Amino acid sequence: MREIRLVARAVGLPRPENFEVVDVPVPEGDGVLVRNAVFHVFPGLRVLVGDGEGETPWPRLSAGDPLMGAAVGEVVSAPDGASVRPGDLVSHFLGWREYALVPEGQLVRLDGELPDPAAYLAPGVTAYSALTREAPVRPGETVLVTGAAGGVGSLAGQIARLLGAGRVVGTTGSAQKGERLVAEFGYDAALSREEASTAEGLRKVAPDGIDVVVDNVGGAQLRAAVGALNQDGRVALVGTLSSQLAPGGSGASAPVELDVFELIRKRVSLRGVLAQDAETRAEWTRRFGGWLREREIAFPHVRFQGIESAPRALHELLAGEHLGSVVVDV
Ligand SMILES: NC(=O)c1ccc[n+]([C@@H]2O[C@H](COP(=O)([O-])OP(=O)(O)OC[C@H]3O[C@@H](n4cnc5c(N)ncnc54)[C@H](OP(=O)(O)O)[C@@H]3O)[C@@H](O)[C@H]2O)c1
Repeated sequence: MREIRLVARAVGLPRPENFEVVDVPVPEGDGVLVRNAVFHVFPGLRVLVGDGEGETPWPRLSAGDPLMGAAVGEVVSAPDGASVRPGDLVSHFLGWREYALVPEGQLVRLDGELPDPAAYLAPGVTAYSALTREAPVRPGETVLVTGAAGGVGSLAGQIARLLGAGRVVGTTGSAQKGERLVAEFGYDAALSREEASTAEGLRKVAPDGIDVVVDNVGGAQLRAAVGALNQDGRVALVGTLSSQLAPGGSGASAPVELDVFELIRKRVSLRGVLAQDAETRAEWTRRFGGWLREREIAFPHVRFQGIESAPRALHELLAGEHLGSVVVDV
């Protein structure tokens, strides 16, 4: 089988040369053998394969390690007494390889609730949790999504709309993506990264102020968004794209200066979003499946074919060439 390995930790943004496709034996031993069908290429890899220091949500990778990421595949073999059987569809975190030997406790058996296996890789549960838990949106409110054309943001706008938001605005680095966000993905208006970093820019698209922010970007956009919040405004802190994908640095820290006096005066809440519980995930999958079947939501994504295309897929994702999630069909 083939898998993708890190050749050397990247200095700055990783490039396809930082990775290699290697032939290795199909793994044997304790665990469930899964034939991967499709895996997710996610921006957090930039930090995990970089040369920075400090804590990260997943372990950093070293030269020679296979890459990883959410994957969906089919069980080939399972130990006696296991809760999954050959032929079952499962998800796990050992993507970037054709076969994975996965400890049973790290597998989730999929129920076929979503029409396309790739849809299980959609990062929508993050956006759904943000808009229902960390920064719940109420009917008629105005929602701002920063990084609106990414995997999370392109679902967040649609979810906000389905949950009853009155106005949904998003930020992107590309005018073309902005047009698509409005035409196809539930946004009322899109604004550039530069406009999104100023009070005037935000006032133009949200003249009555902002009630809820789903922040994928951090930095100057977060500071401006907080400035534009209405009384009792809520901010879900999801990501830090502005530092995570900056060419300099390691992407592993994202400092920003906020005016605490303003936060108190407006009674603002800021909450981090991470790792949803099983109940939130089940609720999301049920609603996502229903919305997909009713054609009320789209899963914006770009598919690359063949495991060997994965390093290029990561490069193009980090370069901002795509709208929505990036997945690789193994
Ligand atoms: N907390 C959680 O549980 C959780 C879960 C999933 C993801 N995340 C985080 O949430 C964030 C969004 O994830 P995602 O999967 O939606 O990302 P993504 O799809 O990989 O986003 C890629 C997009 O980021 C934008 N971008 C690139 N450089 C940027 C910069 N310097 N400043 C602002 N935007 C930039 C580009 O879009 P434009 O061309 O439109 O600017 C690019 O297409 C990431 O930080 C990710 O790590 C967190």
